Amino acid sequence: MLLRVFKTFLLLSLAQAATTGVTLRNHNKTDGFDGPCLLSEYTNRASCTLYNEVLLCARGFTSNWLTKARYHLISHLKILEWPGYCVNVGHLQSHFPYLRTLDIINSTILKIFKGNFDSSSKIEKITMHDLTSLWEVPASLVENMRHLQVLDLRNNSLRHMKENLIRGPPVLETVYLANNNWDCSDGGLDWLAIENENGTVRNKLTDYYQLMCHQQLYRGKPLYKVMDIIRTVKQTCPEMCVCAMTHVVSDAKGTLIPLITANCTEKDLEHPPASLPPSTTTLRLEGNKLTSIGELVQNPQYQTLMDLYLDNNSIQSVKEWEGSEWFSTFRVLSLRGNLLKQIPVYAFDKAFQGNNNIMHVFLGHNPWRCDCHFIPRFQGLLLKYKRVIRDLMDIRCARSDDKTISYVQISTMALGDVCRNSDVNMPISTINIVNLVLLMLILIVVGRFVYDWHKFRATGKLPWISSILP
Ligand SMILES: *[C@@H]1O[C@H](CO)[C@@H](O)[C@H](O)[C@H]1NC(C)=O
Ligand SMILES: *[C@@H]1O[C@H](CO)[C@@H](O)[C@H](O)[C@H]1NC(C)=O
Ligand SMILES: *[C@@H]1O[C@H](CO)[C@@H](O)[C@H](O)[C@H]1NC(C)=O
Ligand SMILES: *[C@@H]1O[C@H](CO)[C@@H](O)[C@H](O)[C@H]1NC(C)=O
Ligand SMILES: *[C@@H]1O[C@H](CO)[C@@H](O)[C@H](O)[C@H]1NC(C)=O
Ligand SMILES: *[C@@H]1O[C@H](CO)[C@@H](O)[C@H](O)[C@H]1NC(C)=O
Repeated sequence: MLLRVFKTFLLLSLAQAATTGVTLRNHNKTDGFDGPCLLSEYTNRASCTLYNEVLLCARGFTSNWLTKARYHLISHLKILEWPGYCVNVGHLQSHFPYLRTLDIINSTILKIFKGNFDSSSKIEKITMHDLTSLWEVPASLVENMRHLQVLDLRNNSLRHMKENLIRGPPVLETVYLANNNWDCSDGGLDWLAIENENGTVRNKLTDYYQLMCHQQLYRGKPLYKVMDIIRTVKQTCPEMCVCAMTHVVSDAKGTLIPLITANCTEKDLEHPPASLPPSTTTLRLEGNKLTSIGELVQNPQYQTLMDLYLDNNSIQSVKEWEGSEWFSTFRVLSLRGNLLKQIPVYAFDKAFQGNNNIMHVFLGHNPWRCDCHFIPRFQGLLLKYKRVIRDLMDIRCARSDDKTISYVQISTMALGDVCRNSDVNMPISTINIVNLVLLMLILIVVGRFVYDWHKFRATGKLPWISSILP
């Protein structure tokens, strides 16, 4: 019962996820800006002011601040509203070699940096805010900075970062990353998931628990929870399989539930994996060497599966599903290309009838036994659930010498064909012989009674039987 409620919940959440929709943004090729990227490009509209040893330049640099004479003065530079796609960091370092603090703020066009800060940089603190076009700060930009202690990257549009952005600068202690568009779904942050709770990188991320994922599957989900899930999946995925999250939903308490697909296709498996990541909902076992479903039915970890693909194995019987709870809660089941000759029709009917989740069932390319005993009931089942059984065209009789049934599509075949052909071969069963004998005896008794009664009415003569009774 619990399982059923859980699945219904997952399905509802899935439907919701599907209607919310997922849009992928493509990189615009013009992102790869390849202009000259000079600090002196925007001198006309620029304005620079110096106060309390802080140089504040808006919309570019004025030419007087780009001459050698002023170098030594500046330890704190604020760049506001930078009007270009690109900031040349190499030039910045050579024009302002004594900088200790650098702020780049409210520059909505800025997308890339040219060059790197090198080990002669004295900068201790870098702040970047409101750079709404900035998707990534390359690790190489800061990797070699020997004095960098604080990196504040809040309120930009960052999606990814490389491990060395944090690990590279030797004295970096404090990193702020909140309010960005972190993309947790495409593997770009997986290195962070593997880092343990007290790892060196994790300890520097001051606002780690405030970070949110922003793209695709994980939009709006707390990054640390998603990282925990990614770690768990990596640790629990069976070694011969590939596990991927296909959806993530949250329950009423805000617990994130990942929906995981374990893909174990074509791995020569004779047995299904003994364990699966928690809340695996789809298992693909196509093209293996399974001969029975016994282990699938018994393993409690398989009970949360919604979609099970068993195509192209050597399964001969599915009797074990009779009466199992899973069988009346699954969503997709594919048994194409196995060795099934027949199925327990009544049990299938009962389970399908009670299964509110059922969406697709595939049974094609099996060597179905076409005799009068099985086919009428099987055909009835196929027609009753034709909206669910999606490959009726491929559900055909096994190859045989009898041309009238060999490879014939079962859902449309004339029952006369199969039943006439098989009756010829079928011996009259014992129970039928007994029935015939009983019928004859009844007819004899009734006939004798009618005869005696007539005779009594006509002649008044009692039947012979009454003359010998006392
Ligand atoms: C890419 O950017 C250019 C210039 O900003 C714009 O004209 C073009 O439509 C953009 N293309 C896409 C696919 O967004
Ligand atoms: C950010 O820059 C835009 C122009 O690029 C300006 O209109 C706006 O006032 C600035 N915002 C802040 C908070 O400085
Ligand atoms: C980031 O933006 C939010 C709202 O847009 C603002 O409240 C917050 O002060 C900003 N933080 C920084 C560090 O600029
Ligand atoms: C991390 O550190 C805290 C306190 O220092 C400790 O309680 C916790 O067990 C540590 N976690 C790991 C995974 O080492
Ligand atoms: C499963 O993995 C196989 C390779 O191992 C790949 O060819 C196939 O596309 C994968 N299927 C899905 C649905 O990801
Ligand atoms: C199963 O095997 C058939 C024939 O070898 C092949 O065409 C089909 O693509 C396979 N199906 C899957 C799901 O691997």
